[in-house]
Amino acid sequence: MSYARFLSSITRFMRRSEIRELLKLTEKGEIISLAGGLPDPKVFPIDDVSKASVKVLSEEGEKALQYAPTKGVGRYREELAKFIRRTRGFEVDPENIVVTTGSQQALDMIARVFIDPGDSIVVEEPTYLAALNAFRPARPRFVGVPVDDEGMKVEVLEEKLKELKREGVKPKFVYTIPIAQNPSGVTMSLERRKRLLELAEEYDFLVVEDDVYGLLVYRDDVDTTPLKAMDKHDRVIYVSSFSKILSPGFRLGHIIAPSELVNYFELCKQSMDLHTPAITQYITLELIRSGAIERNLMGIRSVYSEKLKIMLEAIEETFPKTVWYSRPVGGMFVWVKLNANIDTAELLKKAIKRGVAYVPGKAFYHDYSGVDTMRLNFTYPPKDKLRKAIEILGGLIKEEVFS
Ligand SMILES: Cc1ncc(COP(=O)(O)O)c(C=O)c1O
Repeated sequence: MSYARFLSSITRFMRRSEIRELLKLTEKGEIISLAGGLPDPKVFPIDDVSKASVKVLSEEGEKALQYAPTKGVGRYREELAKFIRRTRGFEVDPENIVVTTGSQQALDMIARVFIDPGDSIVVEEPTYLAALNAFRPARPRFVGVPVDDEGMKVEVLEEKLKELKREGVKPKFVYTIPIAQNPSGVTMSLERRKRLLELAEEYDFLVVEDDVYGLLVYRDDVDTTPLKAMDKHDRVIYVSSFSKILSPGFRLGHIIAPSELVNYFELCKQSMDLHTPAITQYITLELIRSGAIERNLMGIRSVYSEKLKIMLEAIEETFPKTVWYSRPVGGMFVWVKLNANIDTAELLKKAIKRGVAYVPGKAFYHDYSGVDTMRLNFTYPPKDKLRKAIEILGGLIKEEVFS
């Protein structure tokens, strides 16, 4: 029996994440996966987590294993506010933080709180595919703005805003990942960040800032000031998480917003999962307080920057010169544009046969364009395999480009 007739329209607009499908495939056999967005498990601070867990359970076990407030554990939010001030340079009242189950939940909440069918929202081209998948069921009209080496092209955004204005349309929000973007790896220039905020005021829209890679920048000469730190008019809704700097398994994220909106996010979360597990909040509170997270972050940056270097050198040596690729200053990904009439989704089948997986780029475009692009993760594979994977891929691309 088919159950299609029972499904809601929301369910019909849900899309399977191509990455998750691919990850299933790469679990089998000897495939080197450049596909997922997985941290290197060697950088997980297992001893620190173990000590913090024992401490939490022995000293505060009764609270840590109990139900918690929807907004999150109060003491955790206070410690988080201090962590954000130290590491991201802006003041936040703990009352303006809602703890979420990964930042993915924050994106889902944003869709529910803001988007009615047909509402315009602006996304980068390309952008984080699971954000697109979180927004899609709300059936927005996507307005795409391309990114280049300096992040979102705000001059194109301005043109699009003018066009929309002529139609009498105001976008609800612009979704951006300004620092070490997923998937392109690029970072928005400070000038563009400032201009984006000016445009938000001029054209009256909100900015959803996804800062999950804000602390994963591997060079000292890059300005990583978040939009939220420059937000004079309370237009920025800030989303981040501990997935990339502690553990994705903790599923610990947060959303920071003006009080009126916090209220709606809280309402929304109540029916989603009541609250994010208290135990991970207590353990992370202890890890922040003891300085373990900031200490470990130095190690993560050094491992990832070395891996990034290996990947970029291998691409330079083995990919055809006609291929464009990003030169990230941080994050987890290098973005590749083959500049050829090649569908990377088709190419993937051949790559998997040779033992390498990546994510075809079109899933990162709201309109599934970008067929000749691909995203390569450099954080997960061990260094020797990273080099080998790029050599295999480079060989395959050369064959295809010159055939
Ligand atoms: C840009 C971006 N935002 C959000 C997320 C969601 O991460 P999490 O739910 O683990 O915090 C990811 C994960 O890859 C990401 O790359």
